[in-house]
Amino acid sequence: LNFNVNRERRYVLEVLFNGLRRLEYRGYDSAGISIDSFSLPLSRDPNLPRIYPSAPPPLVFRQEGNIESLVRSVYTEVALTELNLEESFSVHAGIAHTRWATHGEPAPRNSHPQSSGTENEFLVVHNGVVTNYEVLKETLVRHGFTFDSETDTEVIPKLAKFVFDKANEEGDQTVTFCQVVLEVMRHLEGAYALVFKSRHYPNELIACKRGSPLLLGVKVSEFSEEASFGSSFLDVKYLSENLHPKELFLSSDASALVEHTKKVLVIEDGEVVHLKDGGVSIFKFDNGKGKGVGALSRPASVQRALSVLEMEVEQINKGNYEHYMQKEIHEQPESLRTTMRGRLIRGGSSKAKTVLLGGLKDHIKSIRRSRRIVFIGCGTSYNAALAARPILEELSGVPVTMEIASDLLDRQGPIYREDTAVFVSQSGETADSLLALEYALENGALCVGITNTVGSAIARNTHCGVHINAGCEIGVASTKAYTSQIVVMAMLALAIGDDTISSRTRRDAIIDGLFDLPNKVREVLKLDQEMKDLAKLLIAEQSLLVFGRGYNYATALEGALKVKEVALMHSEGILAGEMKHGPLALVDENLPIIVIATRDTCFSKQQSVIQQLHARKGRLIVMCSKGYAASVCSGGSCRVIEVPQVEDCLQPVVNIVPLQLLAYHLTVLRGYNVDQPRNLAKSVTTL
Ligand code: G6P
Repeated sequence: LNFNVNRERRYVLEVLFNGLRRLEYRGYDSAGISIDSFSLPLSRDPNLPRIYPSAPPPLVFRQEGNIESLVRSVYTEVALTELNLEESFSVHAGIAHTRWATHGEPAPRNSHPQSSGTENEFLVVHNGVVTNYEVLKETLVRHGFTFDSETDTEVIPKLAKFVFDKANEEGDQTVTFCQVVLEVMRHLEGAYALVFKSRHYPNELIACKRGSPLLLGVKVSEFSEEASFGSSFLDVKYLSENLHPKELFLSSDASALVEHTKKVLVIEDGEVVHLKDGGVSIFKFDNGKGKGVGALSRPASVQRALSVLEMEVEQINKGNYEHYMQKEIHEQPESLRTTMRGRLIRGGSSKAKTVLLGGLKDHIKSIRRSRRIVFIGCGTSYNAALAARPILEELSGVPVTMEIASDLLDRQGPIYREDTAVFVSQSGETADSLLALEYALENGALCVGITNTVGSAIARNTHCGVHINAGCEIGVASTKAYTSQIVVMAMLALAIGDDTISSRTRRDAIIDGLFDLPNKVREVLKLDQEMKDLAKLLIAEQSLLVFGRGYNYATALEGALKVKEVALMHSEGILAGEMKHGPLALVDENLPIIVIATRDTCFSKQQSVIQQLHARKGRLIVMCSKGYAASVCSGGSCRVIEVPQVEDCLQPVVNIVPLQLLAYHLTVLRGYNVDQPRNLAKSVTTL
């Protein structure tokens, strides 16, 4: 960061705290920050001793709990005089991290930045997991290092110190920060996005990545912006030498950058970003085994496409809503419209209605010819694929199978060259889905990505795909991404399916249904108060079952998942066709059961399910199409949720909304954290 304002340290702190607030949805059990403890010269004089004799080590603050407890501890416990010094300094490099525990309980010692030792010679923040940390730890312990945390990350700064000390012992006083980091990278296995800060290299930060996402945001002064960003390419070296950006940001997520700049570089695997004295250069890691520290890659001029974020700051604010989940549920009419924008063509009087998915257009024929389509995903994304499976089978005639990413990997299930593997992921970063993608690529399948995150690993590493364009989703429990995913997969089915005369009526009905879907979702959102009343009735229950079948088996699974993950109430989605094979044993007059029985080809079967539940005095809440309350409740008493009827394959989009609202209200009434449920993370980037 280049500054010419006073009280810079406070500014740096506020920028970092705000960044953490934006990222808190990704991890929220502890947080930490490091800034310099005094003003440092702009350029390091090579003749100066390595550690500035008068320089205290960088300040590090780490705190268990949410970001605000870190902010409080920094501003109250730490000497404010230190922060308020009205000194000017030209460059300041700070790092910060918000954590979702994988190795070690939430505690200050396990929070990041992790340190090389008491002097904070090397500090590291890390997103990902180092899989070989135990071996590295043993080696470092043998060399006299002691460890304070249970994290995998702590080996990284300690390894940096080891490499640095060794180079110096061997007489290499000129070892650069990049060389140290490149050497550290050679020893790391697993996935990571890392940012290093070092007392030995003031005014510098180094970031690198493998697997986990990393973005570089560039904010230049208004004056130079036009000239330098006229083309969509950014010459990093040019930028470094000529532009002197005002502020540079590194983040694992665009939402932390967007209030500062929309100009970002998506850092690729194996790249090392070096920020020094306000400039930037990018190195390529070449795993130069055995070359020794001094012989590693040199800086290169890198020509890279500069992305412009489409995200707006308003998207990542709560607006008039109390919680992100609530906002995201209510903005579904709009997010669905955005998902479909430009992709549905109504055609003229003589022309057929059709679907255009730009990211797939060169691959549609291959997908149509594939031996089977395999949907792969986790959590809500898996459920969305399950909801779309019947329409894909119907319109394409291609067999469709379902895989939970981790299970596919556990079994090493067969994937063939003739398969199309469709990866569904809101974040595009889920570790299991990414590994499954690697596996499918190795096996030669055509890989298609369906994701909400432009530039994500799934978007980049699949052969083709569709962005769902649902807008930034911050609530940990996925809502609007789910409905947009279903809509994209329905459009996929239309795009793959043959446009024959015999299928024309059906296709037209689905396309018309898609056009009208946002209105129907707006209508179903009016059930908000009704679902709140239902939540009041269910507030003290231990358990809730949701029965569905056909198109709405997925709705049962997803509705139950929502209740489970945010309201912390046991809930199970049950395939109604399996009722007699076990679940019926649970039925009594106490256990609440939601039965989804909207009008489609399974309706009469669901009616008989309801009769059988009535016969066992089941406590029923039936979701039915408008006007069908009397017929679904004929055999006993039940509470009814009436929803607008739409084309059968789109009905899951409408039906999930009342269940999302129910989960939301149950959570608020039970006093739990809606947006950051206990123990869960938005993007599970570790295995
Ligand atoms: C986590 C989230 C879920 C999400 C799942 C898959 O478990 O809490 O909301 O459905 O990951 O995430 P993805 O980003 O791949 O859709």
